[in-house]
Amino acid sequence: MSTVEKRADWTARLASAKMSSIVNHIADPLQQVDRVFVRWRGQRLLYFAGCDYYRLASHPRVLAAVRRGLQNYGLNVASSRKTTGNHALYEQLERELAKFFHAQRAVLVDNGYMTNLAVAQAFRGEFSHVLMDARSHSCLADAAELLGAKIVHFAHRDGASFRQQLRRLGRSARPFVFTDGMFSHDGSVAPLADYLAVLPTRAALLVDDAHGAGVLGRAGQGTPSHCGVQDERVIQTVTLSKAFGAFGGAILGSCAVAEAVLTKSRCFTGATPVPLPLAAGAIASLRVFRTKPQMQTRLHANAVWLKARLRAGGLTLPDAPGPIVPVIPRSPAEAAQLKRRLVAAGIHPPLIRYPGGPEGGYFRLVISSEHTRAQLAALAKALLS
Ligand SMILES: Cc1ncc(COP(=O)(O)O)c(C=O)c1O
Repeated sequence: MSTVEKRADWTARLASAKMSSIVNHIADPLQQVDRVFVRWRGQRLLYFAGCDYYRLASHPRVLAAVRRGLQNYGLNVASSRKTTGNHALYEQLERELAKFFHAQRAVLVDNGYMTNLAVAQAFRGEFSHVLMDARSHSCLADAAELLGAKIVHFAHRDGASFRQQLRRLGRSARPFVFTDGMFSHDGSVAPLADYLAVLPTRAALLVDDAHGAGVLGRAGQGTPSHCGVQDERVIQTVTLSKAFGAFGGAILGSCAVAEAVLTKSRCFTGATPVPLPLAAGAIASLRVFRTKPQMQTRLHANAVWLKARLRAGGLTLPDAPGPIVPVIPRSPAEAAQLKRRLVAAGIHPPLIRYPGGPEGGYFRLVISSEHTRAQLAALAKALLS
């Protein structure tokens, strides 16, 4: 083979390797048709997936605010908030977030993933151990690496395992506990009150509430509110990209926490903030959410209704408050069969593999406040037939 031929062969192999990794590792493209339907492989199908629990990502008032934001402010501040990229809109959003979540302060960061990294950078070197739920989201695992403390896991949502591991750390330890609030794979909740009851005062608890925020708690304030927990040791991190349908992440805590993030987190000081139109969208979304509490009531009523129907039909589901129905196939053949059944019923089959979920993949079926009872009944029928 000549050098030119070898190069052509190598380029072709590289191109095909890139293609196959894309095909294997990223899901099929999906197009939103309206608030409950998507287009997938050329078919219009009912959508029970994702994390836009209220479909606020397509709410007319949110979209109008994004358009106005674009017209009024342009797309991007193109510098860090530490230099010339701060804007009154970011500060307004932070005030509204702090008010909504009943926190002393909120710090806006680029996305939910970054919230926990920013907290870890802010407190690097200050804790002896990270005590982490074994099924924590990957961003908490990355944050744990950044904190610069010894990492110890406890069994998933297991208060007894938590206490045992805490005791093993010794009296002089200063642990930082990391856990998701509501777990995305099945909508279950971390027993935050149990953890806090035995944690020393010098410890802290980081709750990644990407899924609990806007979903759990009396007015959507998330997992700490759901668990009846109000404690200075808790730092709650949230995303604006799921229940709130906008974009960005926020760290909620005391003034001291905000101060530490603003001064020590390199991923806060060294990054361009959320595009301004999306910050405007997030403000609008919080307002829609606050003024329409019936959305949250509808979401939970839908979840309770569907889960009751499925249980009555013989399906075993976890006892969890989240609007998520995990269906775990026992074999690839069973997965393929359910996939076909769902598509035949006009429903998109959300068979996914995601960190924290079952290793072989599962159907993560997600209920929205915007699904009608007839649509939920169609899903129940397809799952039970
Ligand atoms: C538990 C959890 N934390 C953080 C994130 C990241 O949030 P974002 O998508 O806003 O980066 C996700 C999912 O995307 C998540 O499921």
